[in-house]
Amino acid sequence: MCGIVGYLGFQDPKKIIIDGLKKLEYRGYDSAGIAILNDGKTKRVRAAGKIINLEEKLINENFNGHIGIGHTRWATHGAPNEKNAHPHQVGAISLVHNGIIENYLEIKKDLIARGAEIKSDTDSELVAHLVNEEIQVTNNLLLAVQKTLGKLIGAFSIVVMWEKSPNELVAFKDGPPLIVGVGEKENFIVSDVQAALQYTKNFVYLEDREIVHIHNNDLKYYSALGAPLKKQITTVDWNTEQVEKMGFKHYMLKEIYEQPRAVAAAIRPHINTELHSVQMESLGFAKSNSETFKTIDRIMFVACGTSFYAAMLGKYLIEQASGLPVEIDVASEFRYRKPIIPKNTLLITISQSGETADTLAAIRLAKEKGALTLSITNVQRSSIDREAHGHLYMNSGVEIGVASTKAFTSTIALLNVLALQIAKDRGAMTPEQEKNYVVQLLATPSQIEGVLAYDKYFSEAAKKLQTFKGFLYLGRGVSYPIALEGALKLKELAYMHAEGYAAGEMKHGPLALIDASMAIVVVAPTDDLIEKTISNLQEAKARGGKIISIGTGDNKALQSMSEYYLSIPASSWMAHPLISVVPLQLMSYHLADSLGYDVDQPRNLAKSVTVE
Ligand code: F6R
Repeated sequence: MCGIVGYLGFQDPKKIIIDGLKKLEYRGYDSAGIAILNDGKTKRVRAAGKIINLEEKLINENFNGHIGIGHTRWATHGAPNEKNAHPHQVGAISLVHNGIIENYLEIKKDLIARGAEIKSDTDSELVAHLVNEEIQVTNNLLLAVQKTLGKLIGAFSIVVMWEKSPNELVAFKDGPPLIVGVGEKENFIVSDVQAALQYTKNFVYLEDREIVHIHNNDLKYYSALGAPLKKQITTVDWNTEQVEKMGFKHYMLKEIYEQPRAVAAAIRPHINTELHSVQMESLGFAKSNSETFKTIDRIMFVACGTSFYAAMLGKYLIEQASGLPVEIDVASEFRYRKPIIPKNTLLITISQSGETADTLAAIRLAKEKGALTLSITNVQRSSIDREAHGHLYMNSGVEIGVASTKAFTSTIALLNVLALQIAKDRGAMTPEQEKNYVVQLLATPSQIEGVLAYDKYFSEAAKKLQTFKGFLYLGRGVSYPIALEGALKLKELAYMHAEGYAAGEMKHGPLALIDASMAIVVVAPTDDLIEKTISNLQEAKARGGKIISIGTGDNKALQSMSEYYLSIPASSWMAHPLISVVPLQLMSYHLADSLGYDVDQPRNLAKSVTVE
């Protein structure tokens, strides 16, 4: 949450910072601001709302200079208005902040007692006050920041600029990501490499409790206590095209359409396409993959949101394919329920961003308790990826739409591979079964293309769906997590009430909600549970509910009871969720778009949730 861009170099800092903030807007869009230093004076402009509002204010503002900081905010402390927008300025200090200062009340009380004039409701401004106090004593930016750190409790990152020293920036990370972009005679400090990728491919990832001191062209790294550190430059090969819309109306739509390619890219490194067998690349454990999978006694998945629904699917896939017990936890609950992690447990985290605070805390706790850990992430070298013993990558390419789509399907594809590999290594699957599953998995990218061909049908149906008061999403078996994911997509994009349920649970409560204003969206492939699902739908239809169904083939029974019936390609029970989620994504996208909502940046949300 919150995006930071700092720049020191020879180009126009305003352009670089605003362009960078636009790439980070997915991290928060409650307010934005910029501060640029020129001729010993800081010029600061801030605006409530999205970056476009800031840009409008900047049209008639001329900035000179070569150093500046900018910020796009996802509000934690204080309303999303201009007063609370960053950068915060106290005396000659300007500061941007991402994260939470837990002891802010105590700091505020002390500052007020010392006569400080506090202008915003944020915890961030208090940090600027503390640095400003320290700099009066030290007259040295690096030292002032170091001394301030000792007074702060929380998970936060900051970048600080000092009017009296126009050639230096000091940044500190403890929690939310901060990455140094190393250019030719220019340097960047950003929350995500995307913000500086068009200028450099060389980055240094700060670890927790590390400081970078950018002084002219010189970069020096220190621990929070001031010990000098040596850091490695990583070259990132994502190209900037991946972060453009490429003619689509929204990033989300582009990302939905990228799924065939993303799924193929996720599984490619782990499949032998000639033999039709799984051969997972080394995951980086001390033992080989197969020794690891043979010796574990259980798997625990931990994740949040859409990634948690992927984890739910992981449980169905791994338990049924290999017989290995699997537990799942929402990351925000995991560490507070004092989890028991028995010996020989493999704990797997799923996180597109690799920065979700609760998931990161969960993997750290699991390591402390002796578990072997595996991360499934999209962003390589992200905090969670760096924390884990073993690593699996979604390879989806940059996902910018706040609502996750291609990262979800890439993850399900990876979980298919993982489940097959575990089953194979533990002797739970014959070569024929393996081949059959792999062939069906390899067919899914073109099957998803087939579903995308129905896009027009969804955009036409979307307007009619606006009239429903609420939506119940139903599924059984592997279609149950897909129903949950469908409901989440509709809630977050179209702001309509939607619930996901296991179809068999209907009669235990939700049936009371059904009347003619309620749409029932059911994911019902023709499998051995279809008859039971159809019975559940009869119960809902008898009470006036309107049915929208996603089935396979020409399922007459399902078709005859549905207002809308969409037939999607059949696949193995394992791979089918990869296909069945796509119509639900398209339905939510078009419904939200037809209502005029901001699909890429739904209200109150942010893509990378780096606070608890
Ligand atoms: C929903 C969505 C969120 C994320 C969740 C976890 O569309 O995107 O529910 O799935 O915030 O994020 P990651 O996967 O980055 O840990």
